Amino acid sequence: MNDAGPSFGLEDVTVAQTRLSSIDGEEGALLIGGYPVEDIAPNATYEEELYLLLHDSLPNAEELRDFQADLARRRSIPDEVASVVRRAAREGRPAMDALRMGLAAVTLSTDLGDPSATEAKALRVVAAMPTIVAAYWRFRQGADPVSPRTALGHAANYLYMLRGEEPSRSAVRGLETYLNTVIDHGLNASTFAARTVVSTESDIVSAATAAVGALKGPLHGGAPGPVLNMIQEAHDRGNCEEVVRARLDAGERLMGFGHRVYRARDPRADVLSAAAEEFYAGAGRENVFETARELEAVGSRLLAERKPDRRLETNVEFYTAVLLHGIGFPAELFSPTFAVSRVGGWVAHALEQKRNNRLVRPVARYDGAEGRTWTPIGERE
Ligand code: ACO
Repeated sequence: MNDAGPSFGLEDVTVAQTRLSSIDGEEGALLIGGYPVEDIAPNATYEEELYLLLHDSLPNAEELRDFQADLARRRSIPDEVASVVRRAAREGRPAMDALRMGLAAVTLSTDLGDPSATEAKALRVVAAMPTIVAAYWRFRQGADPVSPRTALGHAANYLYMLRGEEPSRSAVRGLETYLNTVIDHGLNASTFAARTVVSTESDIVSAATAAVGALKGPLHGGAPGPVLNMIQEAHDRGNCEEVVRARLDAGERLMGFGHRVYRARDPRADVLSAAAEEFYAGAGRENVFETARELEAVGSRLLAERKPDRRLETNVEFYTAVLLHGIGFPAELFSPTFAVSRVGGWVAHALEQKRNNRLVRPVARYDGAEGRTWTPIGERE
C-alpha cells in the first residue's frame, strides 16, 4: 500500500443488472440488445438501435417511422443554449465543455428538470446532443448554426448540421455504423455515472450531463485524437515501424491498443475496421486506411515481442480515429461524437435504473486518523 492507500477501480464488482449490452472480455464478444455488434452495427440505423435499447425489440416499419418522427421533432435547441455554446466557442473552450454546458441548459426549454424520467425526456436529450455539438462547431468556424432538418435521419442530420450540405450515403453509413458500435458498452464510467445520478431520483438531464463530464476524461473517451496523430505521422513519413518503435522505446503506450476488459480482440475494432475499409474504398481520399492497417500489424507484432504475457491488440479507438477522420470529422469532434452515440446508452440505462431503482451508495474503507481532539487555532503549531 502506498501513501494514498490501495486504489479501487470496482473491477469485477457487479453493481447493476442490465439487458442492454453484454461483454465477454475473454472471447472478445459484445451483444447489443442481444445482437452481436458485428451483425447489428453495420445494418441498423441509429434510431433502430436506440429503439431496441429502449423497447428491448427492433421496431417494425410503422413503429420506426413514428419513433424517427418523435426523435426528429425534438432536435431544435433554444436560443439560450445556442448563446452558451457560442460563448464557449468564442472563448476556445473544448468541445466537451461546450456540450456539457449546452446540455445542462437544455432544461430551460422544457420540463426536463422534472425527475420523472420518461422516454419522451430521454428522446429530447438524445435529439438535442448533435444539435449542440454542430452549433459549437459552426460557431468555431465563424459560421452560423444550421437548423436541423426533420426529413433527415439522426446520423445524416448531424452531418448536415455540421457542414450545411446533405452528406453522401457512404458518409452517413460510415457514421451510422460508428454510432451503432459505441452506443452502449456495459457499465463504463460515464454510464455508471448516469445510473448513479438517476438512482437518487434526480432528473435525466442531470444524469446525461454528469455522464458527459465522465466521458470527457482522457482515460475514457480521449484516445482517438492521439491515434490519428500517430497514423498521420506514419503516413507522412512512409514508415510505420519507425514511428511505433520510437514511441515504445520512449516508454509510451501505443494509443488504440489494449483494453481493460477485452483479453481477446475488441470486437468493435473489427466492425469499425470493415466500415473504414468500405468507406475509404469509395471515397477517393488520401488513403490513411492502408497506413492504419500496416501500423496495426506492426504495433501488434512489436507489443507481442515486448509484452509476451499480454494480448495487446487494437481497441475501438484505433479504427474510430480512422473512420471518423475519413468521413471528415476533425479530431476535436471525436469525443463529442462518441457522446452523441453513447447518450443512447446513458438514457436507456437511466430508464432501466428508474424501473427497478435502489440508491447507489457504496462504502469506503476508512484509513484516516482517529481519536483527535479539537485544538483552537491559536494553539496550533
Ligand atoms: N501500449 C504499450 N503497453 C501497453 C499498452 C499499450 N497500449 N496497454 C497495456 N500495456 C502494457 C502496460 O505497460 C503494462 O505493462 P507492465 O505490466 O510491464 O507494466 C501492461 O500492459 C498492463 O497494463 P495495464 O494498464 O495494467 O492494463 P489495462 O488492461 O488496465 O490497460 C488500457 C487498459 C488503459 C486501455 C491500456 O491498454 C492503454 O493504456 N492503452 C492505450 C490507451 C488507449 O488506447 N485507450 C483507449 C481504450 S478503449 C476505451 O477505453 C473506449
